[in-house]
Amino acid sequence: MSKKIPLLIDTDPGVDDALALLMAFADERHDIVGLTIAAGNVGLDHTVRNALKLCEVAGRDDVPVYAGTADPLLHPSVDAAHVHGADGFGDVNLPAAKRQVEAEHAALAILRLSHEYAGELFLVALGPLTNLALALKLDPTLPQRVKRFLVMGGAVTCHGNITPAAEFNIAFDPEAAHIVFTGFPHIEVADWEATVAHGLLHADVEQWLAADSDKARFYELISRQTRLWSEDSRGERWYAADALAMAWALQPEGALRVESRPLNVELAGVHSRGATIVDWNRQTGQPDNTQLLMAYDQGRFEAQVRAALGV
Ligand code: BDR
Ligand code: CA
Repeated sequence: MSKKIPLLIDTDPGVDDALALLMAFADERHDIVGLTIAAGNVGLDHTVRNALKLCEVAGRDDVPVYAGTADPLLHPSVDAAHVHGADGFGDVNLPAAKRQVEAEHAALAILRLSHEYAGELFLVALGPLTNLALALKLDPTLPQRVKRFLVMGGAVTCHGNITPAAEFNIAFDPEAAHIVFTGFPHIEVADWEATVAHGLLHADVEQWLAADSDKARFYELISRQTRLWSEDSRGERWYAADALAMAWALQPEGALRVESRPLNVELAGVHSRGATIVDWNRQTGQPDNTQLLMAYDQGRFEAQVRAALGV
C-alpha cells in the first residue's frame, strides 16, 4: 500500500464538522496527524470538548487534539449556537471524554507538524481561520511546507449564510481570513454556495441515521436539533458544509468543476464585512490564489457520508 497522506484538520465542532471528521476517520488514504481546534460554532471550551468526545466515540483517541484561540483576532463575533446547540453538539448532555487536550497551542502544533511533514502535509480548515492566521504570523514560511490547503468558507458570488453577503467561517474572523488568503498562494475553497448546490435530502439522511451502527446512533443524537432547525428554516435538503469540503479533500477525483480565480476578503464593508470577493473577470491582475469548487459528484459525496456513518 502506498504511503498515507498526513492530514491536519483545523475545526470548530459543530455538527457538520463532526460528520466531516467521521469521514476523515473512515478514509484509508489519509493519516490524521492532529486536530487543531478553533472557536466558532460555539466557544472554544465546547469545541475542544466536542472534538475529544468525537474521537472517543469513534475509537480514535490516537489522534492528538490541540486547543487554539478563544476569540477572533480583532472583533468579537456571534457564534452559531442557534444552529448547533448551545454546546455545539445538540445539547444532549453527553458526558465529557476521558482524555484531556494536549498542552501545546494549536498554532504551535500547526507549525511543528508542518516541519515534521514538510512538503507532504495536507491542511484542511473547517472553521474560522484564527489559528491558521496566528501560525502564519508566527512563521510566514508555513505555506512552503504545506502540500495542499483546503478551506471550507466563503460565498463565491456573495450569497452568504450569516449575512446577506458573507459566510459564517469567514465572517466570524475576517481579519484572520484576510491574513490566510494573502499568506497562502494556493487555497482550495469549498464555499457555502457549493454546499447549497450539494444538499442532502433529509429523508435520505434520516434513513442512513437509522442504521444499526454506533456511529450512526451517535450522529443521529447530536445532529437531531440541527436537522430539525434546518428542515424548518431551509426546507427538504440539509446543507452539510464541512462534509462536502471533506469529501473533496479526501477524494479530489470527485470534483466535476473547479475554477481558479483571485479572491479577497472584505474587511471594511458596511453591509459586506467578511464577504469573499472573487475576481471572476480577473480585473485586478492579481494571481489566482484560489481554486473554487463549483460541482462535485453527488453520488460520491453521499457514499462517503454513508461510509463514515457505518451504513
Ligand atoms: C460553516 O459554518 C459553520 O456553522 C459550519 O460548521 C461550517 O463550517 C458553514 O458556513
Ligand atoms: Ca465548521
